[in-house]
Amino acid sequence: MKLKMIAMAVLAAAAGAAQADDIAQRVETLLRQMTLEEKAGQLNQLSGKEFSTGPNSDNVRNIERDIRSGKVGSMLNIKGVRDTRRVQALALQSRLHIPLLFGLDVIHGYQTVFPVPLGEAASWDLEAIEESARIAAREAASAGIHWTFAPMVDVGRDPRWGRVMEGAGEDTYLGSRIAAARVRGFQGAKLGGTASVMATAKHFAGYGAAIAGRDYNAADMSEHQLHETYLPPFKAALDAGAATFMNAFNTLNGVPATGNAMLQREILKGQWGFKGFVVSDWGSVREMVVHGYAQDLPDAAAKAIAAGSDMDMESNAYGASLPALVKAGKVDIAAVDDAVRRVLTKKFELGLFDDPYRFSDEAREKAALNDPRHREAARRIAAESMVLLKNEGNALPLRRGLRSIAVIGPLADARRDLEGGWIVQSNAAKMASLVDAVRAHAGQGVRVDTAAGCDVACRGLDGFDAALKLAATADTVVLAVGESWDMSGEAKSRAHLGLPGRQGELFEALRAIGKTPVVVIMAGRPLIFENVAEQAKAILYAWHPGSEGGNAIADVLFGDVNPSGKLPMTFPRNMGQIPIGYQQYNTGRPVQTESNVVYKSAYIDSPNTPRYAFGHGLSYTSFAYSGLRASSTTMRPDGKILLSFTLTNSGPVAGAEVVQLYLRDPVASVVRPLKELKGFQRVALQPGQAQTIAFTIDRETLAFYNRKLEWGAETGTFEVMVGSASDDIRLKQTIELTER
Ligand code: BGC
Repeated sequence: MKLKMIAMAVLAAAAGAAQADDIAQRVETLLRQMTLEEKAGQLNQLSGKEFSTGPNSDNVRNIERDIRSGKVGSMLNIKGVRDTRRVQALALQSRLHIPLLFGLDVIHGYQTVFPVPLGEAASWDLEAIEESARIAAREAASAGIHWTFAPMVDVGRDPRWGRVMEGAGEDTYLGSRIAAARVRGFQGAKLGGTASVMATAKHFAGYGAAIAGRDYNAADMSEHQLHETYLPPFKAALDAGAATFMNAFNTLNGVPATGNAMLQREILKGQWGFKGFVVSDWGSVREMVVHGYAQDLPDAAAKAIAAGSDMDMESNAYGASLPALVKAGKVDIAAVDDAVRRVLTKKFELGLFDDPYRFSDEAREKAALNDPRHREAARRIAAESMVLLKNEGNALPLRRGLRSIAVIGPLADARRDLEGGWIVQSNAAKMASLVDAVRAHAGQGVRVDTAAGCDVACRGLDGFDAALKLAATADTVVLAVGESWDMSGEAKSRAHLGLPGRQGELFEALRAIGKTPVVVIMAGRPLIFENVAEQAKAILYAWHPGSEGGNAIADVLFGDVNPSGKLPMTFPRNMGQIPIGYQQYNTGRPVQTESNVVYKSAYIDSPNTPRYAFGHGLSYTSFAYSGLRASSTTMRPDGKILLSFTLTNSGPVAGAEVVQLYLRDPVASVVRPLKELKGFQRVALQPGQAQTIAFTIDRETLAFYNRKLEWGAETGTFEVMVGSASDDIRLKQTIELTER
């Protein structure tokens, strides 16, 4: 049996290699037939946004003409079986009949909308995250899409930057695991399946380190920081098979990412051996002129292709300039050929030369877009992504037998806002708002009333009275506040992270009439809400939870689902603490040093500690950690230590805990943070149930980049910590790495 399996695996590998050889040959044959203009065309990507709105505009006509003459290799923003078929047919009229690639931002769902990626990351559930990407891929691929511009794997440590919404938060390890899960989900086992799309690891690199959290701003960091913090999620995406990368708008240490040969040629295609292709970000080739890095559009094109940007999204730089640049000897034809090979290879791998329409299938589209299992998954995953920040006196779940509930606040009856920032098309009309869902859960005989109090911007108090009047007569009050869908995301940097406008005063007003509400906060990023954090009894952070968000919030409020999310990003107390992450250094003057009361690394007007730490999240049950055992306390360089302990559900209801493993290397040639996440597991337990949890520690776990950027572990002692959050360590163990 075993032999048979090995034989089958060998055969499959051989078939894979043969297919790769075959594709390589077909690519070479095609390349030899191509003119310089046709080669430049393959590297030219244009937006078809106007195709659905104004099919007769000059711009659309020009693009259609260019497609027919082989001057376009890929389109973005065209979707649906009808449109993708129509536009693909134009490409097939070109001299060499090379099919187009259709790319789209399928970020947190195509039709079925899942929580915004930061919210989904809060589930720490890699299977669920993979599943949501699979569903998005299935829906998109059936509608003619070959390629999604996701996942965004930029580490984000500054909540002012609105695009933290689109990533997996502040941590490199968690971000790397999630990056791999998302790539697996989008791409499936192998490119070419009609329920999969190519993934894009973006934005390479450093985009999340925008100075002052202002989108598109410069990033400036040590190489050490780049390698240690920002690059690993990209490497993880690549190892998971990411077919494409997207570069970034920002400069990194003075050089635009799009024109950055160190990033794209040395690291990505050199050291990492990436075989896919790199697409620029929207207009980022052209923007190198604005940055002050290129003289004009042709100069930008020359610099971008030399640096390893293979496809030009919407700058019209490659198509317009590459042929002349090659003829003038300013661009090496080898660089163009290499880029074209990479793009054509993906088109072959997707099977588009065999059937250019294979992704645009009406029956499959209908089946995928009407599959009720997708909505069920969206509800389950949304509920899992929610984080119970506070729950004093078990204010949640809501008691059974309430006679009346008032759902107050600007997001109480919101639908579009539930969907969050980056969707393909809104399904708001078909969605349940939070009030709808509370009504459905509460059942007959319970009065459920709602009043907004104000809109999300909440500039005036006019609506407060009506809301207060309604709340005054209710048994319990739920207050839904936070951001509208368009307050987080691209170009949505915020200099103030409080609840928008006067929303916080609505909370105060309810308190003043003796109706302290249970607070539900929806947002695409960590917000600052000190009065609520201090005075509310219960706070549920729901992010922007997607199509099924209203139902999922109600599932948690009523206790049908026990919350299990944990923060993937630190929540500050105030703006002055930003950037704040759990990966802090001890400094020479940590706050604990009593002998040095004044001259310490602290603020004179704020604690150092965040409001809610990375990894924090409560449950309706409690978990006990006990009996930490290490298989050995010393480890040789090639050895392993098995760390195990018992996790017990010590509370009254079933629940899931995300146990977290942190490490500190107290003395090293490069000072290490006080804590670094090195592992986690999501464990579901029945009340009273106990389970042994094990983590394996080896040299990899202890390794880091030294000053020479060499990856390795240094001998000596290490502190290993296991806990329920980065600030809630329950068990500790010291281990030692020996020389031999
Ligand atoms: C964003 C990318 C996105 C692209 C295409 C850009 O503005 O930065 O993440 O994929 O637009 O829509």
